[in-house]
Amino acid sequence: MSFSASLIKKFRSDIDGDYRCLDTRPLVLVGLMGSGKSALGKRLSVALSLPFIDSDILVEEEAGISIAEIFELAGEARFREMERRVILNVLEQGSCVLSTGGGAFCNPETRAAIKENARSIWIDSTPETLLSRIGNPASRPLLTTGDPLEILTRLRQERAAAYSEADLCIRTGKQSHRTAMRKLLGTLSEAGHIERLLPHPAR
Ligand code: S3P
Repeated sequence: MSFSASLIKKFRSDIDGDYRCLDTRPLVLVGLMGSGKSALGKRLSVALSLPFIDSDILVEEEAGISIAEIFELAGEARFREMERRVILNVLEQGSCVLSTGGGAFCNPETRAAIKENARSIWIDSTPETLLSRIGNPASRPLLTTGDPLEILTRLRQERAAAYSEADLCIRTGKQSHRTAMRKLLGTLSEAGHIERLLPHPAR
C-alpha cells in the first residue's frame, strides 16, 4: 500500500526519526481488532521505508467484496482459508511491515508460518480501549452477534495464549499514536530488529 505525501507527513509527525530494519524478514503485527495494528503498522513502515501490507485489505481485494460480506456469503472458515493463503504469500516476499487481521495468528498454520518466517509483535490493549478505538462495531462481523465489549473480553481470554507466542509484545492504552510509536520503536530497537539512523549533521 502506498501513501500520499500528506499522509507520509502526518505519519512522520508521530515518529522520532528514521530507522533501518536489521532483519530481512517481515515484521508482523498481531493482536485483537482495535489494537492499532494498522495505524502503527503504517507509521512503522514509513519509519523503516518498507512496504506496508494489510492482510484484511489483500483478502478483500482478492474476493472483490468486504470482509463482512465474505463472512455473510461464504462463512468464517472460508475467510480464514483466504487469510492464511494471502499471509503465506506475503511471507515469501521478504522485508515489509504486515498488519494481520485479529484472528490470523490464532490459526495454527498461519501462526507457525509467521513464527518461522517473520518477526511478530503482539499489540495488546484492554477490551475497553479496543472498543473505544473500533468505533462502529458493525464493520467487524464477529462483534455483531452480541454485546461488543463482552465479545472482545472473551476473545482476548481465548486468544491470549496464541498472541503470547509472538516474539515481542507492547501494551497500548488510550494514548496518542506518537506515544505508542515510541514504545513500538523502542521495543524493536532493544530486541535488535531495528536501529535508528543518525540524523545528517547540520552544515
Ligand atoms: C477479525 C478481525 C478483523 C478481520 C475480521 C476478523 C478477528 O481484522 O480480520 O473481521 O477474528 O479478530 P482487524 O483485527 O484488522 O479488525
